[in-house]
Amino acid sequence: MKDIKGTAKICGVIGNPIEHTLSPFIHNTLAEKTGLDLAYVPFLVKPDKEGEQDGGNAADEVLKLREESLGKAIEGAYALGLLGLNITVPYKRTVMNFVKETDPIAKKVGAVNTLVRIDGGYKGYNTDVAGLGRALESDNIPMEGDDILVLGAGGAARAVGFLMLEKGAASVTFLNRSSNKAENLAFELNSAAGRQFARALALPDFRRIPEGKRFVTIQATSVGLGADADRAVIEDPEFYKRVGIAVDVIFNPAETKFMKLAKQEGAKTFNGLKMLLYQGIIAFELWTGKKIDEATADEIYLKLKEQV
Ligand code: ATR
Repeated sequence: MKDIKGTAKICGVIGNPIEHTLSPFIHNTLAEKTGLDLAYVPFLVKPDKEGEQDGGNAADEVLKLREESLGKAIEGAYALGLLGLNITVPYKRTVMNFVKETDPIAKKVGAVNTLVRIDGGYKGYNTDVAGLGRALESDNIPMEGDDILVLGAGGAARAVGFLMLEKGAASVTFLNRSSNKAENLAFELNSAAGRQFARALALPDFRRIPEGKRFVTIQATSVGLGADADRAVIEDPEFYKRVGIAVDVIFNPAETKFMKLAKQEGAKTFNGLKMLLYQGIIAFELWTGKKIDEATADEIYLKLKEQV
Protein backbone atom coordinates (compact mmCIF):
# COMPACT_ATOMS: atom_id res chain seq x y z
CA MET A 1 0.00 0.00 0.00
CA LYS A 2 1.46 3.31 -1.02
CA ASP A 3 1.78 6.27 1.32
CA ILE A 4 -1.03 8.75 0.85
CA LYS A 5 0.11 12.26 1.68
CA GLY A 6 -2.04 15.14 2.86
CA THR A 7 -1.49 16.79 -0.49
CA ALA A 8 -2.95 13.88 -2.49
CA LYS A 9 -5.77 14.44 -4.94
CA ILE A 10 -8.45 11.84 -4.26
CA CYS A 11 -10.51 9.94 -6.82
CA GLY A 12 -12.64 6.83 -6.44
CA VAL A 13 -15.30 4.53 -7.77
CA ILE A 14 -18.90 4.34 -6.59
CA GLY A 15 -20.93 1.16 -7.08
CA ASN A 16 -22.89 -1.65 -5.45
CA PRO A 17 -21.34 -4.21 -5.24
CA ILE A 18 -17.81 -2.83 -5.43
CA GLU A 19 -15.71 -5.57 -3.76
CA HIS A 20 -14.27 -6.96 -7.01
CA THR A 21 -13.43 -3.69 -8.77
CA LEU A 22 -10.09 -3.51 -10.58
CA SER A 23 -10.27 0.28 -10.94
CA PRO A 24 -8.20 1.08 -7.81
CA PHE A 25 -5.44 -1.15 -9.22
CA ILE A 26 -5.58 0.63 -12.61
CA HIS A 27 -5.60 4.18 -11.22
CA ASN A 28 -3.12 3.73 -8.40
CA THR A 29 -0.73 2.09 -10.88
CA LEU A 30 -1.26 5.00 -13.30
CA ALA A 31 -0.55 7.47 -10.47
CA GLU A 32 2.62 5.59 -9.59
CA LYS A 33 3.82 5.40 -13.23
CA THR A 34 3.15 9.09 -13.89
CA GLY A 35 4.48 10.21 -10.51
CA LEU A 36 1.27 12.13 -9.81
CA ASP A 37 0.17 12.71 -6.22
CA LEU A 38 -3.19 10.95 -6.57
CA ALA A 39 -4.93 8.15 -4.67
CA TYR A 40 -7.97 6.16 -5.75
CA VAL A 41 -10.38 4.30 -3.47
CA PRO A 42 -13.54 2.16 -3.78
CA PHE A 43 -16.83 3.40 -2.29
CA LEU A 44 -19.76 1.09 -1.62
CA VAL A 45 -22.83 3.29 -1.86
CA LYS A 46 -26.11 1.74 -0.79
CA PRO A 47 -29.12 2.73 1.26
CA ASP A 48 -29.05 1.78 4.95
CA LYS A 49 -32.32 -0.06 4.51
CA GLU A 50 -31.83 -1.71 1.12
CA GLY A 51 -33.37 -5.18 0.98
CA GLU A 52 -35.66 -4.66 3.96
CA GLN A 53 -38.74 -3.58 2.03
CA ASP A 54 -41.62 -5.87 1.31
CA GLY A 55 -44.92 -5.52 -0.48
CA GLY A 56 -45.74 -4.57 -4.07
CA ASN A 57 -43.68 -1.38 -4.24
CA ALA A 58 -40.46 -2.96 -3.00
CA ALA A 59 -38.53 -2.55 -6.29
CA ASP A 60 -39.62 1.09 -6.75
CA GLU A 61 -38.78 1.82 -3.13
CA VAL A 62 -35.29 0.31 -3.48
CA LEU A 63 -34.67 2.40 -6.60
CA LYS A 64 -35.79 5.55 -4.78
CA LEU A 65 -33.57 4.83 -1.78
CA ARG A 66 -30.62 4.03 -4.04
CA GLU A 67 -31.07 7.30 -5.89
CA GLU A 68 -31.21 9.22 -2.59
CA SER A 69 -28.01 7.59 -1.34
CA LEU A 70 -26.25 8.27 -4.63
CA GLY A 71 -27.28 11.93 -4.52
CA LYS A 72 -25.92 12.29 -0.99
CA ALA A 73 -22.70 10.51 -1.99
CA ILE A 74 -22.06 12.82 -4.95
CA GLU A 75 -22.78 15.92 -2.88
CA GLY A 76 -20.50 14.58 -0.13
CA ALA A 77 -17.76 13.78 -2.63
CA TYR A 78 -17.82 17.34 -3.90
CA ALA A 79 -17.75 18.72 -0.34
CA LEU A 80 -14.80 16.43 0.45
CA GLY A 81 -12.93 17.87 -2.48
CA LEU A 82 -12.75 14.70 -4.60
CA LEU A 83 -11.20 15.39 -7.99
CA GLY A 84 -13.11 12.72 -9.84
CA LEU A 85 -15.20 9.58 -9.60
CA ASN A 86 -15.97 6.53 -11.65
CA ILE A 87 -19.52 5.31 -11.50
CA THR A 88 -20.40 1.67 -12.01
CA VAL A 89 -23.37 -0.72 -11.66
CA PRO A 90 -26.17 0.11 -10.78
CA TYR A 91 -25.69 3.88 -10.98
CA LYS A 92 -24.48 4.74 -14.51
CA ARG A 93 -27.87 6.07 -15.56
CA THR A 94 -29.15 7.50 -12.26
CA VAL A 95 -26.01 9.54 -11.73
CA MET A 96 -27.03 11.73 -14.65
CA ASN A 97 -29.55 13.37 -12.25
CA PHE A 98 -26.69 14.59 -10.06
CA VAL A 99 -24.21 16.15 -12.47
CA LYS A 100 -23.87 19.81 -13.29
CA GLU A 101 -23.04 19.19 -16.96
CA THR A 102 -23.02 16.17 -19.25
CA ASP A 103 -20.68 15.52 -22.15
CA PRO A 104 -22.62 15.11 -25.45
CA ILE A 105 -21.51 11.48 -26.05
CA ALA A 106 -22.61 10.47 -22.54
CA LYS A 107 -25.93 12.20 -23.17
CA LYS A 108 -26.45 10.24 -26.40
CA VAL A 109 -25.51 6.94 -24.83
CA GLY A 110 -27.64 7.70 -21.77
CA ALA A 111 -24.97 6.61 -19.28
CA VAL A 112 -22.18 8.27 -17.30
CA ASN A 113 -19.24 6.34 -15.88
CA THR A 114 -16.85 9.21 -15.05
CA LEU A 115 -17.32 12.43 -13.11
CA VAL A 116 -14.83 15.27 -13.42
CA ARG A 117 -14.85 18.06 -10.84
CA ILE A 118 -15.80 21.47 -12.24
CA ASP A 119 -16.90 24.67 -10.55
CA GLY A 120 -19.96 23.91 -8.37
CA GLY A 121 -20.26 20.18 -9.11
CA TYR A 122 -19.21 17.44 -11.51
CA LYS A 123 -19.30 16.99 -15.26
CA GLY A 124 -20.39 13.54 -16.45
CA TYR A 125 -18.58 11.65 -19.21
CA ASN A 126 -18.84 8.19 -20.72
CA THR A 127 -15.35 6.75 -21.11
CA ASP A 128 -16.70 3.22 -21.77
CA VAL A 129 -17.46 4.25 -25.35
CA ALA A 130 -14.08 5.85 -26.06
CA GLY A 131 -12.37 3.10 -24.03
CA LEU A 132 -13.79 0.40 -26.28
CA GLY A 133 -12.74 2.49 -29.28
CA ARG A 134 -9.16 2.77 -28.09
CA ALA A 135 -9.04 -0.93 -27.15
CA LEU A 136 -10.25 -1.96 -30.62
CA GLU A 137 -7.82 0.43 -32.30
CA SER A 138 -4.90 -0.84 -30.24
CA ASP A 139 -5.72 -4.39 -31.46
CA ASN A 140 -6.10 -3.13 -35.06
CA ILE A 141 -9.73 -4.22 -35.23
CA PRO A 142 -11.40 -2.55 -38.21
CA MET A 143 -14.53 -0.45 -37.71
CA GLU A 144 -14.61 2.23 -40.41
CA GLY A 145 -16.61 1.14 -43.45
CA ASP A 146 -17.33 -2.29 -41.95
CA ASP A 147 -20.54 -4.17 -41.19
CA ILE A 148 -20.53 -4.99 -37.49
CA LEU A 149 -22.58 -7.60 -35.60
CA VAL A 150 -23.52 -6.89 -31.97
CA LEU A 151 -24.98 -9.45 -29.58
CA GLY A 152 -27.30 -7.69 -27.12
CA ALA A 153 -29.34 -4.52 -26.92
CA GLY A 154 -28.76 -3.39 -23.31
CA GLY A 155 -26.46 -0.69 -21.93
CA ALA A 156 -23.22 -2.20 -23.23
CA ALA A 157 -24.66 -2.85 -26.73
CA ARG A 158 -25.92 0.70 -26.82
CA ALA A 159 -22.42 2.04 -26.13
CA VAL A 160 -21.04 -0.22 -28.89
CA GLY A 161 -23.67 1.05 -31.34
CA PHE A 162 -22.86 4.72 -30.72
CA LEU A 163 -19.13 4.01 -30.94
CA MET A 164 -19.58 2.31 -34.32
CA LEU A 165 -21.58 5.25 -35.59
CA GLU A 166 -18.86 7.63 -34.46
CA LYS A 167 -16.11 5.49 -36.00
CA GLY A 168 -17.84 5.43 -39.38
CA ALA A 169 -18.91 1.77 -39.52
CA ALA A 170 -21.09 1.00 -42.56
CA SER A 171 -23.77 -0.77 -40.51
CA VAL A 172 -24.56 -2.43 -37.20
CA THR A 173 -26.84 -5.44 -36.72
CA PHE A 174 -28.12 -6.02 -33.18
CA LEU A 175 -29.07 -9.60 -32.34
CA ASN A 176 -31.03 -9.80 -29.13
CA ARG A 177 -33.30 -12.15 -27.16
CA SER A 178 -35.96 -9.42 -26.88
CA SER A 179 -36.21 -8.24 -30.46
CA ASN A 180 -38.29 -5.17 -29.53
CA LYS A 181 -35.35 -3.82 -27.48
CA ALA A 182 -33.03 -4.32 -30.45
CA GLU A 183 -35.56 -2.62 -32.74
CA ASN A 184 -35.86 0.40 -30.44
CA LEU A 185 -32.10 0.73 -30.25
CA ALA A 186 -31.74 0.41 -34.03
CA PHE A 187 -34.44 3.05 -34.52
CA GLU A 188 -32.65 5.44 -32.18
CA LEU A 189 -29.30 4.94 -33.92
CA ASN A 190 -30.87 5.39 -37.35
CA SER A 191 -32.38 8.69 -36.17
CA ALA A 192 -28.98 9.81 -34.86
CA ALA A 193 -27.26 8.68 -38.08
CA GLY A 194 -29.87 10.16 -40.41
CA ARG A 195 -29.58 7.02 -42.56
CA GLN A 196 -30.25 3.28 -42.51
CA PHE A 197 -27.33 2.37 -40.24
CA ALA A 198 -28.66 -0.15 -37.71
CA ARG A 199 -31.01 -3.10 -37.91
CA ALA A 200 -32.38 -5.60 -35.42
CA LEU A 201 -32.67 -9.38 -35.54
CA ALA A 202 -34.05 -11.90 -33.07
CA LEU A 203 -31.37 -14.41 -32.01
CA PRO A 204 -32.69 -17.37 -34.06
CA ASP A 205 -32.74 -15.15 -37.17
CA PHE A 206 -28.93 -15.05 -37.39
CA ARG A 207 -29.28 -17.26 -40.50
CA ARG A 208 -30.47 -14.16 -42.36
CA ILE A 209 -26.93 -12.81 -42.07
CA PRO A 210 -25.25 -13.74 -45.34
CA GLU A 211 -22.81 -16.65 -45.25
CA GLY A 212 -19.44 -16.36 -46.89
CA LYS A 213 -18.47 -13.13 -45.14
CA ARG A 214 -16.80 -12.98 -41.73
CA PHE A 215 -17.88 -10.09 -39.53
CA VAL A 216 -16.40 -8.22 -36.60
CA THR A 217 -18.76 -9.41 -33.84
CA ILE A 218 -19.04 -7.80 -30.43
CA GLN A 219 -20.59 -9.78 -27.59
CA ALA A 220 -22.35 -7.23 -25.37
CA THR A 221 -24.81 -9.34 -23.35
CA SER A 222 -24.28 -10.48 -19.76
CA VAL A 223 -24.40 -14.15 -20.83
CA GLY A 224 -20.98 -15.66 -20.19
CA LEU A 225 -20.54 -13.87 -16.87
CA GLY A 226 -20.67 -15.35 -13.34
CA ALA A 227 -23.24 -18.16 -13.07
CA ASP A 228 -23.59 -18.07 -16.89
CA ALA A 229 -19.86 -18.66 -17.44
CA ASP A 230 -20.40 -21.87 -19.41
CA ARG A 231 -22.98 -20.33 -21.76
CA ALA A 232 -23.02 -18.11 -24.82
CA VAL A 233 -26.03 -16.19 -26.04
CA ILE A 234 -25.83 -18.09 -29.35
CA GLU A 235 -24.24 -21.53 -29.24
CA ASP A 236 -25.02 -22.77 -32.76
CA PRO A 237 -21.69 -23.28 -34.63
CA GLU A 238 -23.45 -22.06 -37.81
CA PHE A 239 -23.48 -18.56 -36.33
CA TYR A 240 -19.74 -18.59 -35.67
CA LYS A 241 -19.03 -19.40 -39.35
CA ARG A 242 -20.03 -15.76 -39.90
CA VAL A 243 -17.61 -14.41 -37.28
CA GLY A 244 -14.11 -13.23 -38.26
CA ILE A 245 -13.09 -11.20 -35.22
CA ALA A 246 -14.86 -11.91 -31.93
CA VAL A 247 -14.75 -9.31 -29.15
CA ASP A 248 -16.39 -10.00 -25.79
CA VAL A 249 -16.96 -7.06 -23.43
CA ILE A 250 -16.66 -9.58 -20.56
CA PHE A 251 -13.13 -10.03 -19.17
CA ASN A 252 -13.78 -12.57 -16.42
CA PRO A 253 -13.51 -15.42 -17.39
CA ALA A 254 -10.61 -14.39 -19.62
CA GLU A 255 -11.87 -16.73 -22.34
CA THR A 256 -15.67 -16.76 -22.49
CA LYS A 257 -17.80 -19.45 -24.09
CA PHE A 258 -18.52 -16.99 -26.92
CA MET A 259 -14.78 -16.64 -27.53
CA LYS A 260 -14.26 -20.43 -27.40
CA LEU A 261 -17.04 -21.08 -29.91
CA ALA A 262 -15.74 -18.34 -32.23
CA LYS A 263 -12.18 -19.67 -32.00
CA GLN A 264 -13.37 -23.18 -32.90
CA GLU A 265 -14.70 -21.76 -36.16
CA GLY A 266 -11.44 -19.95 -36.89
CA ALA A 267 -12.08 -16.43 -35.51
CA LYS A 268 -9.54 -14.20 -33.79
CA THR A 269 -10.75 -13.47 -30.26
CA PHE A 270 -10.42 -10.64 -27.73
CA ASN A 271 -11.91 -10.14 -24.27
CA GLY A 272 -13.01 -6.92 -22.53
CA LEU A 273 -9.94 -6.35 -20.36
CA LYS A 274 -8.40 -3.75 -22.67
CA MET A 275 -11.71 -1.91 -22.78
CA LEU A 276 -11.68 -1.82 -18.97
CA LEU A 277 -8.10 -0.52 -18.99
CA TYR A 278 -8.76 2.20 -21.56
CA GLN A 279 -11.98 3.46 -19.96
CA GLY A 280 -9.79 3.92 -16.86
CA ILE A 281 -6.94 5.55 -18.77
CA ILE A 282 -9.31 8.04 -20.43
CA ALA A 283 -10.87 8.90 -17.05
CA PHE A 284 -7.37 9.40 -15.59
CA GLU A 285 -6.47 11.66 -18.52
CA LEU A 286 -9.62 13.72 -17.96
CA TRP A 287 -8.84 14.15 -14.27
CA THR A 288 -5.16 14.94 -14.59
CA GLY A 289 -4.75 16.40 -18.09
CA LYS A 290 -1.86 13.97 -18.56
CA LYS A 291 -1.76 11.78 -21.69
CA ILE A 292 -0.92 8.12 -21.08
CA ASP A 293 1.34 6.75 -23.80
CA GLU A 294 0.93 3.31 -25.39
CA ALA A 295 4.03 1.88 -23.73
CA THR A 296 2.61 2.69 -20.26
CA ALA A 297 -0.80 1.33 -21.28
CA ASP A 298 0.83 -1.94 -22.47
CA GLU A 299 2.80 -2.26 -19.26
CA ILE A 300 -0.31 -1.80 -17.09
CA TYR A 301 -2.27 -4.18 -19.31
CA LEU A 302 0.21 -6.98 -18.58
CA LYS A 303 -0.06 -6.34 -14.84
CA LEU A 304 -3.87 -6.15 -15.05
CA LYS A 305 -4.01 -9.57 -16.72
CA GLU A 306 -2.39 -11.05 -13.62
CA GLN A 307 -5.12 -9.54 -11.42
CA VAL A 308 -8.05 -11.31 -13.17
P1 ATR B 1 -25.61 -4.23 -19.74
O1 ATR B 1 -25.60 -2.83 -19.22
O2 ATR B 1 -24.50 -5.11 -19.23
O3 ATR B 1 -25.73 -4.28 -21.24
P2 ATR B 1 -28.40 -4.81 -19.56
O4 ATR B 1 -28.72 -3.46 -20.03
O5 ATR B 1 -29.22 -5.43 -18.47
O6 ATR B 1 -26.91 -4.92 -19.09
O7 ATR B 1 -28.44 -5.80 -20.84
C1 ATR B 1 -28.19 -7.16 -20.74
C2 ATR B 1 -28.17 -7.78 -22.14
O8 ATR B 1 -27.94 -9.19 -22.02
C3 ATR B 1 -29.49 -7.65 -22.90
O9 ATR B 1 -29.23 -7.61 -24.28
C4 ATR B 1 -30.19 -8.96 -22.51
O10 ATR B 1 -31.18 -9.39 -23.42
P3 ATR B 1 -32.71 -8.86 -23.26
O11 ATR B 1 -32.71 -7.47 -23.80
O12 ATR B 1 -33.50 -9.81 -24.04
O13 ATR B 1 -33.00 -8.91 -21.77
C5 ATR B 1 -29.04 -9.92 -22.56
N1 ATR B 1 -29.29 -11.10 -21.75
C6 ATR B 1 -29.19 -11.22 -20.40
N2 ATR B 1 -29.49 -12.48 -20.01
C7 ATR B 1 -29.77 -13.17 -21.15
C8 ATR B 1 -30.13 -14.54 -21.43
N3 ATR B 1 -30.25 -15.41 -20.45
N4 ATR B 1 -30.35 -14.89 -22.72
C9 ATR B 1 -30.21 -14.00 -23.73
N5 ATR B 1 -29.86 -12.71 -23.54
C10 ATR B 1 -29.65 -12.30 -22.28
